Amino acid sequence: PRPILLTRHGESQDNVRGRIGGDTAISEKGELYSKKLANFVGKRLKSERAASIWTSTLQRTILTASPIVGFPKIQWRALDEINAGVCDGMTYEEIKKNMPEEYESRKKDKLRYRYPRGESYLDVIQRLEPVIIELERQRAPVVVISHQAVLRALYAYFADRPLKEVPHIEMPLHTIIEIQMGVTGVVEKRYKLMD
Ligand code: G3H
Repeated sequence: PRPILLTRHGESQDNVRGRIGGDTAISEKGELYSKKLANFVGKRLKSERAASIWTSTLQRTILTASPIVGFPKIQWRALDEINAGVCDGMTYEEIKKNMPEEYESRKKDKLRYRYPRGESYLDVIQRLEPVIIELERQRAPVVVISHQAVLRALYAYFADRPLKEVPHIEMPLHTIIEIQMGVTGVVEKRYKLMD
């Protein structure tokens, strides 16, 4: 059976500064990951001529995909990171300090909390539906390069994890989660390519 490979983008400039959202480029470390990922994908999908690489429309995923050669790349707006609305570009510290009510309501119900003029996890889950339909339709392997919140939702779908866990699933940087749907269920492998 064909695998689905899920990964976050390489470390971004905003990851380094602790800022959420934004559309910054990747850091030097992130660039190193993009090369390691390309090397991994090249080997893992060597004989898979119909495989494709899916990214979001944000720079950090497109840059992470850029060293991968030989496969078509598709950008999906539905794979963009959760929209943090008025909090876009802030650090969690700044949100806590300047918008304490927002900070608290998110802490209380992270799944349903919607950023003012932005999205909730439930919104993200809903907008991923066409991506999931297309992923299930694919007969060839797909590499999905996206973002923390989005990958939590995608992973939860394939790994059959309950909705309430979605916002809390660990989704480390620089790690590939490989999912295979077999007859007996889902088999998962993880490859941590670097810290
Ligand atoms: O920029 C957004 C983060 O990747 C989402 O993380 O939902 O745990 O705050 P969070």
